[in-house]
Amino acid sequence: TSKKTLDIAVIPGDGIGREIVPVAQAVLKEAVGDSVSFNYTNYDLGADRYLRDGTLITDDQLKDMDQKDAILLGAVGDPRVKSGILERGLLLKLRFAFDQAINMRPSKLYPGVKSPLADPGDIDFVVIREGTEGLYSGMGGLLRMGTEHAIATETSMNTEFGIERAVRFAFELARKRGGKKHVTMVNKTNVLYYAGQLWLWVMDKVGKEYPDVTYDYLHADACTIFLVTDPSRFDVIVTDNLFGDIITDEAGAVVGGIGYSASANINVTDEHPSMFEPIHGSAPDIAGKGIANPSATVLSAAMLLQHFGYDEAAARIDRAVEADAEENSSRKRSTDQIGQDIIARL
Ligand code: NAI
Ligand code: MG
Repeated sequence: TSKKTLDIAVIPGDGIGREIVPVAQAVLKEAVGDSVSFNYTNYDLGADRYLRDGTLITDDQLKDMDQKDAILLGAVGDPRVKSGILERGLLLKLRFAFDQAINMRPSKLYPGVKSPLADPGDIDFVVIREGTEGLYSGMGGLLRMGTEHAIATETSMNTEFGIERAVRFAFELARKRGGKKHVTMVNKTNVLYYAGQLWLWVMDKVGKEYPDVTYDYLHADACTIFLVTDPSRFDVIVTDNLFGDIITDEAGAVVGGIGYSASANINVTDEHPSMFEPIHGSAPDIAGKGIANPSATVLSAAMLLQHFGYDEAAARIDRAVEADAEENSSRKRSTDQIGQDIIARL
């Protein structure tokens, strides 16, 4: 559904988040010209806000954001805030409140960007991570803590509904990408016996509807090996919440990491807004210096455009970032300079 006006909630957040988000907004404007107008609403959320008045996110803000078409997020996090508070109170809260069931992370090795692998090959795949279930569902308990009889349980929740929307998204994406047209399911069916059977069953069921897309299955531990020995074999990977969390970090690392890794948290029915963000954090070590690489946020903004059907403009941004990386990624440039270089190519 291509809309003429997009209402976007913006959470620049903390640290470099505030430096890179405006660059992504400038690139968006240049990429779409007059065909779309963006209506931005900024939200003052993140560590600074939390430290100032204790707010993580209010119910009114959630309600307000729910009316927007999408959310663009920089990064949150600050060494002064205990780890987990912002992740759970803000990021996970948004993902669950807006039922962002699909976490999508492309891994592409751009020419000129250095991979830690000696012989990386042609890496271009996407991980689809189920985002609302599995071991992250919060089902479990801790009893008798502090005694020798303490018990902790953490239950992996897997529903046919939740698996199917992830698997279907993966098959649709493989078809749309038009490359290898191959879906790899990653799990650990040899030990996660019950959940594994359900995932495999859903894959066979959905796979029958996509005769033009091939699929196979890989254990998660084997997948971590292939991600470094033969990453170019992958096209679309679909996996559960925990395995997805781990392998997307590995996937980001093999393509030279942090500066170019984008992500989308997608609500598949468009009932609530989807959220687009770079995978890196607020980088307190370089915050305020104006040297953060905005490319991952720019690529996340391109995913936002693609989500709304502006495939052509999204592809133009991709190509501009790719060409910029090829020519300049070994040079030291300021955040603004990188933004201007990308915009010049558009
Ligand atoms: P980080 O991703 O912020 O930084 C790791 C390293 O990569 C640092 O050396 C940083 O300078 C560098 N880096 C990151 N993004 C960069 C960019 N765009 N350009 C150039 N260099 C970049 O991860 P770290 O240090 O573990 O976490 C810092 C804070 O961010 C923590 O509070 C953490 O909780 C939070 N965080 C937030 C995330 C989010 O908002 N989605 C994701 C990951 C971490
Ligand atoms: Mg992670």
